[in-house]
Amino acid sequence: MAKSKQISSLQWRILPPIIALLVYLPIVSGSFFEPFNVSYDHRALIIAGKRRMLVSAGIHYPRATPEMWSDLITKSREGGADVIQTYVFWNGHEPVKGQYNFEGRYDIVKFVELVGSSGLYLHLRIGPYVCAEWNFGGFPVWLRDVPGIEFRTDNEPFKKEMQKFVTKIVDLMREAKLFSWQGGPVIMLQIENEYGDVEKSYGQKGKDYVKWAASMALGLGAGVPWVMCKQTDAPENIIDACNGYYCDGFKPNSKTKPVLWTEDWDGWYTKWGGSLPHRPAEDLAFAVARFYQRGGSFQNYYMYFGGTNFGRTSGGPFYITSYDYDAPLDEYGLRSEPKWGHLKDLHAAIKLCEPALVAADAPQYRKLGSNQEAHIYHGNAETGGKVCAAFLANIDEHKSAYVKFNGQSYTLPPWSVSILPDCRHVAFNTAKVGAQTSVKTVESARPPLGSMSILQKDVSQDNVSYISKSWMAWKEPIGIWGEDNFTFQGLLEYLNVTKDRSDYLWLKTRISISEDDISFWKKNGSNPTVTIDSMRDVLRVFVNEQLSGSVVGHWVKAVQPVRFVQGDNDLLLLTQTVGLQNYGAFLEKDGAGFRGKVKVTGFKNGDMDLSKSSWTYQVGLKGEAEKIYTVEYNEKAEWSTLETDVSPSIFMWYKTYFDTPDGTDPVVLDLESMGKGQAWVNGHHIGRYWNIISQKDGCERTCDYRGAYHSDKCTTNCGKPTQTRYHVPRSWLKPSSNLLVLFEETGGNPFKISVKTVTSGILCSQVSESHYPPLRKWSTPEYMNGTISINSVAPEMQLHCEDGHAISSIEFASYGTPRGSCERFSTGKCHASKSLSIVSEACQGRNNCFIEVSNTAFRSDPCKGTLKTLAVVARCSPSQETSYLRF
Ligand code: GAL
Repeated sequence: MAKSKQISSLQWRILPPIIALLVYLPIVSGSFFEPFNVSYDHRALIIAGKRRMLVSAGIHYPRATPEMWSDLITKSREGGADVIQTYVFWNGHEPVKGQYNFEGRYDIVKFVELVGSSGLYLHLRIGPYVCAEWNFGGFPVWLRDVPGIEFRTDNEPFKKEMQKFVTKIVDLMREAKLFSWQGGPVIMLQIENEYGDVEKSYGQKGKDYVKWAASMALGLGAGVPWVMCKQTDAPENIIDACNGYYCDGFKPNSKTKPVLWTEDWDGWYTKWGGSLPHRPAEDLAFAVARFYQRGGSFQNYYMYFGGTNFGRTSGGPFYITSYDYDAPLDEYGLRSEPKWGHLKDLHAAIKLCEPALVAADAPQYRKLGSNQEAHIYHGNAETGGKVCAAFLANIDEHKSAYVKFNGQSYTLPPWSVSILPDCRHVAFNTAKVGAQTSVKTVESARPPLGSMSILQKDVSQDNVSYISKSWMAWKEPIGIWGEDNFTFQGLLEYLNVTKDRSDYLWLKTRISISEDDISFWKKNGSNPTVTIDSMRDVLRVFVNEQLSGSVVGHWVKAVQPVRFVQGDNDLLLLTQTVGLQNYGAFLEKDGAGFRGKVKVTGFKNGDMDLSKSSWTYQVGLKGEAEKIYTVEYNEKAEWSTLETDVSPSIFMWYKTYFDTPDGTDPVVLDLESMGKGQAWVNGHHIGRYWNIISQKDGCERTCDYRGAYHSDKCTTNCGKPTQTRYHVPRSWLKPSSNLLVLFEETGGNPFKISVKTVTSGILCSQVSESHYPPLRKWSTPEYMNGTISINSVAPEMQLHCEDGHAISSIEFASYGTPRGSCERFSTGKCHASKSLSIVSEACQGRNNCFIEVSNTAFRSDPCKGTLKTLAVVARCSPSQETSYLRF
């Protein structure tokens, strides 16, 4: 053997680190791309010298775990995104003034690197006010304590802190070589957020602040464009961008700026007690197509993945723990179909138009009918030759339109846009969904054969669950529990006391009740009431440690009847927050707890004003302070075994253990049997829970995609609890004996808590012969060189299970004239007899499959002269069957 080929033992020792270094090098050096510049003109962002039409996917890194990031970014890219957009969450990065956190879910550098390594760009919205249904709009609560501070206005202390943080983030990106001109993915930044909404409240100082924020940002030398959204007075070198459900027709404040849509609200957020918003895929696609049709060049889905408000990060008032948002990727990162697939097709169609869209400085407009219009883009392609693309829109909400365009006839469904990448053939229509629908199935987890832990050995076979049947409980003391309480004459502002370290603040005072008072109330058959002029979010009133009642509301008057005994009475008020305000002017003054007076009314001689009384204050719970939800400290509490027949009790801590379901499906805790509280798994705070029923009315039976969307349209889940399932990221779990701790405020039955998994268990799809050919066929050489006409390509159906899953059975298949809709299909008069076997053969056992919708594929024409449709229902199961064997 030649000497040069031999590797010495020393080399063996040093080689792996060198290889590791080489693999890691592209990341540390930031060279994800050849360094490129980003600029813009009136038409588009110019990336490396070329105008681009860009699709962006909003993902907020702390609303997922780092272990989820890659998959989310990959699925965004597969869905046709060019860019990932995120806010930067100041209160997560600087929880204590001057102490920064860039670890774990806040490892923003890692997130941006992952975006770069996927070949995508990044739009970084630094804010640092971000709104985002995030606690306090992203501001750290300590910011309120900076002397003389007023947020978001021409105020020196605020500007100083804002500049410091924005500089920190820009420097961080620069040091990690993440800007485009360094070969990194960051192509654009954002300063402030929708300041235009509140600017008037600040008068001249608001206007000055906008100018300052712009020049401060530009002065950081980040070398990429900055945007301000909803900012009609954005200064010259900052692009003002649009946010909304529709942004077609938006005009920036200067002819030199491109049309950008920073937030396309593809769903909406949810409040405790609210129903669940849904924005139909057809309407969303319509809005996006209209945007590019009318001159838009960058559009971001807010959100592409919403995720979860872990811990106490959700904003308020009253935003739930899930931030699913009805986004194309659901809270767990699973595709929400047909939204994800329909948008993917839309993006592919827009990409086919890109050469023409960037070639033209402006579209040519043609009116096609009273509510129909065409926009045509043509010019010389960068690669040579002429290019032409057209968008034909029917904005009539009710009727289809039949239009003539360039001598051809086109049918346009109501409220839809047809996209013609060659100005002749329709590649896509926003109202024609070819993508599959996925039905999410929730399984009560069952352990795989042979991997039962001690936990499960004592449970009967027909009642197998992952969670232990034995629970321990510990009662949280009602009232003042610790040495760090303090007494003050008068009422203190809530946030000044808690600094948002906890959702809970106890206030205690003593009231002396005379014999006269008691007999007065007896005689009149009346009760005194604790009355608070204004309060938020939850108040619980106790007299002598007994709960009198609770009030829930956002700056509402509280009137709570109470019963006193003769002599001294302890009046205890537990005041709570459920997410701090995240929107509006003067956030620093918003505060929490009480405003105005606290009184006891209904005495013979009038009211007793307690506003100046001596109050003892205690922040938080004893269990919180002792961190009994952590693996390390949970033994600090004196847990006792909970008997199954015990009646629900308020203010209880519960703990048990559970094993992790096998496989890769997302794991959830079903907390429907509980009241209100917080939950932790292995010390990770999974969020607040609240079993609150949403209003009975307001959910329409059918959802019509046509017409302008608003967040009350197409909602679901009326009359049911707003949220019952809580995401437990798999990376927070070990295979067995995971510690689950809950703090429960109102009662509830922990024995009914279950661990479940979520997957897209059922797929349905319906594609007819008249559907358009698959988008990918447009890029095949045969079409490009003209050997085939796109007209002669048959449409196809694609079925796609989640990763790690395969189609285990075809439950229904009919090529002919099937009736009904998803999950409720039945065969019609016309049915190809081999439908089931042909689809099964093509799909069974596969993760995804394509079936051509044609007589050729189904080996016969089951009804000549009739338009045929293929309808399929398929079941997806984990690919490795063995890991899911049932008992
Ligand atoms: C926008 C805001 C976002 C988010 C959104 C609603 O006005 O900029 O941060 O709050 O509303 O989801």
